[in-house]
Amino acid sequence: MQSYIEENRDRFLNELLDLLRIPSVSADSKFKGDMLKAAEFVKESIQKAGADRAEIYETAGHPVVYGEKIIDPALPTVLIYGHYDVQPADPYELWNSPPFEPVIKNERIYARGACDDKGQFYMHIKALETMLATDSLTCNVKIMIEGEEEIGSSNLGTFVNANKEMLKCDTILISDTSIIANDVPSIETGLRGLTYVEVEVVGANRDLHSGVYGGGVANPINVLCEMIASLKDENGHITIPGFYNDVEDLTPEQRDALNAAPFDLDEYKKDLGIDDVLGEKDYTTIERTSVRPTLDVNGIWGGYIGEGAKTVLPSKANAKISMRLVPHQTDDAILELFTKHFESIAPASVKVKVTPHHGGLPYVTPTDSLEYKAAELAMEESFGKKPIPTRGGGSIPIVALFEQELGCKSILMGFGLDIDALHSPNESYGLFNYYKGIETIPLFFKHYAELKK
Ligand code: BES
Ligand code: MN
Ligand code: MN
Repeated sequence: MQSYIEENRDRFLNELLDLLRIPSVSADSKFKGDMLKAAEFVKESIQKAGADRAEIYETAGHPVVYGEKIIDPALPTVLIYGHYDVQPADPYELWNSPPFEPVIKNERIYARGACDDKGQFYMHIKALETMLATDSLTCNVKIMIEGEEEIGSSNLGTFVNANKEMLKCDTILISDTSIIANDVPSIETGLRGLTYVEVEVVGANRDLHSGVYGGGVANPINVLCEMIASLKDENGHITIPGFYNDVEDLTPEQRDALNAAPFDLDEYKKDLGIDDVLGEKDYTTIERTSVRPTLDVNGIWGGYIGEGAKTVLPSKANAKISMRLVPHQTDDAILELFTKHFESIAPASVKVKVTPHHGGLPYVTPTDSLEYKAAELAMEESFGKKPIPTRGGGSIPIVALFEQELGCKSILMGFGLDIDALHSPNESYGLFNYYKGIETIPLFFKHYAELKK
């Protein structure tokens, strides 16, 4: 198996580079054609890897690619999930090389989607090819690569629900998360959920002269800022009534275990160029970014932002606000609490509107399941070190839904690193991580089949 990977090393990389050249940005309709191109590319690569079939399924949004290789119905079935869509590459001017013209520098692939998630799901297709070419596949494989993860997977739930029989499996394996370091392998055992809203605050029916009217009527930007500022208290607690009602408090043992993971606060600050961190009182940075809920403004706009100064009292102000959720919060309940509260704190001098975007439920998986053990053994074998269980701060909306619809847990065996700069300019993925993934995935199948016997 290892020699097959070695012999095909360059081709495995060049194929990924071809995939990275397709600007499959799901959020922006101008890339709709490229989304189809990427789906076609994924379908063909699944076929070429040796699958029995691979197809493109239309949805109300971007298509889903599905393929399978059933070798023996008596063997366990693993469903692979990933996403071929990527985040917008903006701002383009901050890239050192064009985002959709991948380059290799310092043993890293630089391109939008290099790690999230093209580089990571493509490892699975190359691992499948390797297992089939070397006659070493030990499980049935189903593979579903979607095109709407970065915009909330809102049509995938319908697809999964409508295709339960086709997607039926024993476990789900996903590479779309990170490890602590290349010499500190880890497995994420949880993801945060998400409620994402856009708010609008409207004052007068038109923009006004800020001298003539200033001081007399509400400035929606001022009001919005005050409203947002009031959403957290001086301890960094979110002030929305009921927000923490369902939040699971960790036991002191669980907290200790979480905080025992290698983490260097000084390194963290240095990497980000900050003098200090900021967050909820009485929690560590690890806890704040994984097992505690958050509320953040992602964007805010309104008024005059052109050159020079314009004395204007704007009629409108807007913001995009996200809340990361933890077990057992639900995106629907938090959306309702947020909306009610936000409307209630608005002064009578303005009108507010809350529009929901996408959401997703949080997720946790136990570390004593067969599938977790299989991932642990696989990584231990390939990295030479037992992986540490961690809790992730990001979200993959479909994972909790998989559990509801298909009744099985997902294993988050990701190979990314923090330095990969997901969603940022100059996203990259290490060649080490790409090949390590291709090497580790077959070991997961091997151990999983053995443990399931
Ligand atoms: N792959 C990420 C999520 C991730 C990254 C989890 C690193 C853990 C470690 C995924 O593509 C992502 O960005 N998800 C979005 C979800 C949203 C758009 C619904 C997120 O977390 O913001
Ligand atoms: Mn991803
Ligand atoms: Mn992402």
